[in-house]
Amino acid sequence: MATSAVTHLPASFYQPFLSQISKLRKPSPIRGLYPLENKPGVISLLAGKPNSAMFPITSLNFTVAPTTAPEYAQSIATGTPLPQGQNKPIEVTGADLQAGLQYGATAGLPRLLEWLHGLQEKSHGRSKGEGWRISVGAGSQDLIYKAVNALLNPGDTILVESPVYAGVIPMFQTLKCEQVEVPTDASGIRSQDLRTIFSSWPSDKPKPKVLYTVPYGCNPTGMTAAEDRRREVIELSREHNFLILEDDPYFYLYFGDAPRPPSYFHLEKVIPSQDGSPNVGRVLRFDSFSKIVSAGMRMGFVSGPATLLDAIDLHTGTANLQSSSLVQSILLALVESWGYDGFDAHIRSVSAFYRAKRDVFQAAMQENMEGLAEWTAPEAGMFFWFKLLLKPTTGAAADEDEDEGDSSDLVRTKAYENGVLALPGTVFLPNGRKTAYVRASFSLLDEDDVREALKRLREVVKQERGEA
Ligand SMILES: Cc1ncc(COP(=O)(O)O)c(C=O)c1O
Repeated sequence: MATSAVTHLPASFYQPFLSQISKLRKPSPIRGLYPLENKPGVISLLAGKPNSAMFPITSLNFTVAPTTAPEYAQSIATGTPLPQGQNKPIEVTGADLQAGLQYGATAGLPRLLEWLHGLQEKSHGRSKGEGWRISVGAGSQDLIYKAVNALLNPGDTILVESPVYAGVIPMFQTLKCEQVEVPTDASGIRSQDLRTIFSSWPSDKPKPKVLYTVPYGCNPTGMTAAEDRRREVIELSREHNFLILEDDPYFYLYFGDAPRPPSYFHLEKVIPSQDGSPNVGRVLRFDSFSKIVSAGMRMGFVSGPATLLDAIDLHTGTANLQSSSLVQSILLALVESWGYDGFDAHIRSVSAFYRAKRDVFQAAMQENMEGLAEWTAPEAGMFFWFKLLLKPTTGAAADEDEDEGDSSDLVRTKAYENGVLALPGTVFLPNGRKTAYVRASFSLLDEDDVREALKRLREVVKQERGEA
C-alpha cells in the first residue's frame, strides 16, 4: 500500500474538541516535575515516594504456557491434544522489580511504552514522530472512559455505531449526550448512512465531534468492518471534522480467511487528505490485553494525538495517579521474553482457539437454529449475533419496517427458565428499543454445552412460534 507524506494536526487543532472539565485540569504540581529528577547530578527531595527498603516483596516468579510454539496453534486448529511443552519460568527481579513496586510515570513504565510503540509500528505501520504517543491504563475501559470525559461536555451529540458495546452507553447517558446511531451490518459500520446523517444534519445544530466504533469482531455484532467502509469513515471524519474512537479489543482475535482489513489508525496515515491538510491525528485507538493475556490484569493502552493523551493523563493523575506498576512490570517481563515474534506466535494460537470455538458454535447453530434465526458468522472476536425469527414467515416478502418481535422477554425469562442464558439485543441499543436480536458469547463453552444450550434455545423459540 502506497503511503503519503505523514503530516499531523497541531496541538491547537484539539482545543475545540476538549471538554470543559478537561480544560480545567491542571498538571499535578508533583507529577509534572518528575521528569526533572532524571537529570544527572540532581538530588531530589521532590516525590513522596515510599522507601522501597520497606517493601517486603523480594522476588516475583511466574511461568508461561508454551503458546508461542507453532505446534500449539496447529493443535488448536486441528483439534488434536495440545503439545505438552514446558511452561517457561519468568522472574521479575532487581531494578525491574523495584520499578514495579514503586510509583511510576502516569503514562506507564517507559520500557513498556517503548515495547508498545514497536507493536503499533508492526501492527499499524505507525512510527514515532507522527504526533502521537501511548498511555497505559487499567484496561481499555478505563481509558475509553477518560477519553469520553476529555472530549464530551454534558449534552453534546455523539455518533455511536448501532448496536453498540453496552459498556459505553452509560458513559454517554450520564453525560446526557445525544447518541446518534449509525447503523451497522455484516460489513460493519454503514458509512453511506453516516454520510446521509451528515447531509441531513440541521444547519443550526453543532455537528458531533466524536464517533465511537468497534471495528473487529464487534461487541455485540461480531462483525468486522470492511476496508471500503473504513476508508469512507476516515474521509467523512475529515470532511465533517470529527474524531474516531477506535475501540479495538478484538483486533488480535481476527481469524477470518481473507487478509485482515487495516485499522483506522493505519488508514489515516495512508489515505492522503484531499485538501492537503495534515492527514493524521483524528484517530484515538484503544487496545486491550484482556482477551490475549489476562482480563484480570486490567491492562490496556491508548494510542493517539499527544494533546488528547495529555488530557487523558491529567485525568489519570487526578483519579488514580497511574495504572499498577507491578502489573505493568509483569506484562513487560512477559512480552520481552516473547519478543515481537513470540507475541505474533501467541496471537496465532489465540486466534486459532477462537476460530475453533466459532466453528463449533456455527455448526450447532446450523443444527438447531436453521429456520428459527438468521445470522452471519463472525470472523473475529467471541460473539455470535443472531436475529430470532419470532414470527413464522408467511411467505410474503418481509417488510423492512415490520415489527420483527422482541427477544427480551424470551431470552430473559423463557430461555432462562429452560436453562440457557444469553443477552437480549436491546441492551446494545442506546435507546433500548425492541429488537429480535440476541448476543451469544462462544468463548467459554465446550462443544457439548454449546449444542445443549442451542437445543434448549431452539425449544423455546419453537414454543414462541407455536410450533412446539
Ligand atoms: C468493545 C469493548 N471495549 C472495551 C472493553 C473493555 O475491555 P478491557 O478489559 O480492556 O477494559 C470490552 C470488554 O469486553 C469490549 O468488549
